Amino acid sequence: MAVNNNERRRVLITSALPYANGDIHLGHLLEAVQTDIFARYNRLRGRDVLYVCADDTHGTPIELSALRQGITPEELIGKARESHVKDYSGYDISFDIYYTTNSDENRHYAELIYENLRKNGLVIEKEINQYYCEHDKRFLPDRFITGTCPKCKAPKQYGDVCEVCGATYEPVDVIDPACGICGNTPQMRSSTHIYVQLAKREDFLREFINRPGVLQSDMRNFVKTWIDEGLKEWCISRDGPYFGFKIPGTENKFFYVWMDAPIGYLSSTERYCKDHGGSAMDYWKKGAPAEVVHFIGKDIVYFHALFWPVMLDNSDFAVPSSLRIHGFLNIQGEKMSKSRRTFILARDYLEKVEHPQAAEFLRFYYGSKLSPNSADLDLNKDELITRVNTTLVNNIGNLHHRSMVFCERYFDNQVPAAKWDDAIASQIESAAEEIAGWYESGDNKLVVEKIHALGSIGNKYFQDSKPWESIKAGDKDAAAIVIVTCVNLIKALIVYLKPMTPGISAGFERQLSLQMGWDDYRFSLSGHRINAVEKLVIPLDDSHLNALFTPAAQS
Ligand code: MSP
Ligand code: ZN
Repeated sequence: MAVNNNERRRVLITSALPYANGDIHLGHLLEAVQTDIFARYNRLRGRDVLYVCADDTHGTPIELSALRQGITPEELIGKARESHVKDYSGYDISFDIYYTTNSDENRHYAELIYENLRKNGLVIEKEINQYYCEHDKRFLPDRFITGTCPKCKAPKQYGDVCEVCGATYEPVDVIDPACGICGNTPQMRSSTHIYVQLAKREDFLREFINRPGVLQSDMRNFVKTWIDEGLKEWCISRDGPYFGFKIPGTENKFFYVWMDAPIGYLSSTERYCKDHGGSAMDYWKKGAPAEVVHFIGKDIVYFHALFWPVMLDNSDFAVPSSLRIHGFLNIQGEKMSKSRRTFILARDYLEKVEHPQAAEFLRFYYGSKLSPNSADLDLNKDELITRVNTTLVNNIGNLHHRSMVFCERYFDNQVPAAKWDDAIASQIESAAEEIAGWYESGDNKLVVEKIHALGSIGNKYFQDSKPWESIKAGDKDAAAIVIVTCVNLIKALIVYLKPMTPGISAGFERQLSLQMGWDDYRFSLSGHRINAVEKLVIPLDDSHLNALFTPAAQS
């Protein structure tokens, strides 16, 4: 990345904006944890970080969901935002702002970006036929048509895809279509819609996806195929009634939710800057000295790799430096599904796992599995227990505890004032750059493996050096070298873990009355006072997780 080293690197980091009509679940958290690890790592390096997220609030499903609950869409999205913020905070997700797409700032930028698309000749209007429900007085989106699949004749399928045979089709092809709201037969009506001609920016998009760092290699080929197959015109309008922003210059047309959703990244930045100083353009103006890094799931790549860069570039805004695309979370080898009871909400995990470090363990477990690719990940109960206990409890927790007990018992509540073992110190030193590189690239799995390996070196060193025998033999100086070495080693591992397990790291910092930045991986403690010894990590076992993974208890 071509960034001037003399300046503080400025990094804008985002997670995808969750829909306001759903609860936060462990799949959302896979993304939030991954993003948060990256944000915390960058802050630890002293960079100027802004971690932005918001609720995605517009569109027909949200409007109808409010209707069904007998509340206004504004009430629904207000409640959703409150509960989303609460859910994320239970896992220490360190957003700098969690805003909403239903804001004045977002309307402003949506109109501006649209205006520029028009100005530069990227917009056309087309007349199309669509189902209209006379009873509900509205055009029906594909998902609000139900009928018989034209391919396999399965009844009660959506207007665009059959969940039985997997066929995709146009709503007009559905047999016996019915309005998904009231069940009446809809009528065909014509309406004019607004399209963005993406194909006009094909050259730009080809160049964009090939920029180093923009896409992981598995994804770059994937996106290239979409371009090769021909970029389709993208419809950005919907007929009213529609919960969203009215399109200027139209009677009753609104921006499609996916038009203003990504603009939420920009408008949330603006809101943050209004409240805290600075300007959104410090991040988003083309050529601004900032990186923009989006974390997203593999299901929304089309929007972020094709539509969004065109919208930005056409308005002289900065395009993303990097799209970090992750796979989907499965639970115990199965897709998350409400009907199969493998759907775990963020708050249910916290309620049902009766362990004070439940959230921290999930963060660590996700971290131990995350690599920079879009493979799906499985949440497995036994593996969760094993990883937590093997690395956090038996390795790091153990070395921490036995070292601290020595400080307390034999060294007067101090880290011994001795010189540490240089061979061990240099192994820790030389790991720093490697670990930093993995945090940069999202190879969190390798970070965990390395930390585990270093912890094992520490435990072996402790075991082989037998400081308890030195003490017994009256050779306190020999024991001092071992203990000062192990405490500094643990300190380094705690620094390395800080982006992933901020709670455990904070426990260690409290115990030593320290506040540590990245450079504190270096050995430095000698003769330092410690507070009363506490266990950093409490073991995890089956009994903590049974309530969560017993289907009967899930409903
Ligand atoms: N609102 C859109 C995103 C707009 S971004 C400008 C949306 N919302 S979502 O709530 O469905 O998903 C939000 C993020 O969570 C997406 O990146 C999505 O891929 C991710 N995940 C949703 N379910 C997931 C899993 N089961 N596993 C991992 N990530 C998942 O899409
Ligand atoms: Zn109807």
